[in-house]
Order: sequence, then C-alpha cells, then structure tokens
Amino acid sequence: MVLPAEPAIVRGDRDRLVQVVLNLAGNAVKFIPEPGGVVALTVIRSPQGWAVWVDDNGPGVPMEERTAIFERFYQGAHTRRLAKGTGLGLAIAQRIVERLGGTIFVTDSPLGGARFGVVLPSGNEDGDGSRKEGAHAGKDPGGG
Ligand SMILES: Nc1ncnc2c1ncn2[C@@H]1O[C@H](COP(=O)(O)OP(=O)(O)OP(=O)(O)O)[C@@H](O)[C@H]1O
Ligand SMILES: [Mg+2]
Repeated sequence: MVLPAEPAIVRGDRDRLVQVVLNLAGNAVKFIPEPGGVVALTVIRSPQGWAVWVDDNGPGVPMEERTAIFERFYQGAHTRRLAKGTGLGLAIAQRIVERLGGTIFVTDSPLGGARFGVVLPSGNEDGDGSRKEGAHAGKDPGGG
C-alpha cells in the first residue's frame, strides 16, 4: 500500500466511499491467480484531486470490455469462469463516484493485470478538516 505524506481528504458519505474501495479491492482479490496473486493500493495526488488505484496481477480487462464492465449486470467474458456475483459492483461504484464529482476508470496495471482508478475532488483546500459547519458565527436568529 502506497500512501501520500499528507492526509487525503475527500467529501462524501463515508460508507459509500468505503463501498467503492471495497468493490474494487474485492474484484481484484476475486480475479487474481491462486497462489501468486498480488493486489496493491495507491493513493496519490492528481491534478483532478485524490486518485486511488487498485492494481492486480490477474487477467486484466480487454480493451473491448472497458466500457461495458461499468454497466449493470455486465460480467466480462474473460472472467466468466471465475465470476461470482451479479455484475453490479462497478455500476454502483461508478454511480457513487460520479455523484461526488469524480471519475472511475480501468487501464493496464504495471503488475500485469487491471488497474482500477478513482479520482475524487480534493477537500484538503476546504479548511483544516475540523471546520464546524453549524457553529454559531454571528447573530442569534431567535434573539430579539
Ligand atoms: N480486477 C479485475 N480484473 C479483471 N476483470 C475485472 C476486474 N474487476 C472487474 N472485472 C470485470 O468486470 C466485470 C464487472 O465487475 P463488477 O464488479 O461490476 O461485477 P462482479 O464482480 O462480476 O459481480 P458483483 O460485483 O456484483 O459481485 C467482472 O465480471 C469482470 O469481468
Ligand atoms: Mg464486483
């Protein structure tokens, strides 16, 4: 696991963000060879925000399936033998990420399999991370 020196702050529902990463990591674990499987997580800064990569040394995703795998119920021909589940994981992950103003993609991994990446707008510039949104900052609306 490769992590940045500063905390990576993104805004969004905690459970949903965890769900996205678990979806991608769960897929990687599902499709890597046994024995000899490798999965790597990386968090880095990109111009668009924080990028999370999930790399594996599984079969990868063929070019012609790289759009379809994000559709509901689509399961790749290259993994049909191994695939359990319903083909919903990536469709759900894409929906969550896009609602937060981010992007999700798949490409080749230097490990030999797939790299799934999520890029989310950085919240690091929004404040110190402990901002009190609802704090009384001035007039008391009930006062008089
Ligand atoms: N790490 C990966 N390596 C190779 N193929 C992948 C990988 N992750 C996803 N895929 C391909 O994308 C398809 C869709 O993935 P998705 O997560 O949506 O569904 P699933 O994992 O098959 O089922 P579910 O997530 O509902 O349990 C997979 O069936 C597989 O063909
Ligand atoms: Mg899945």
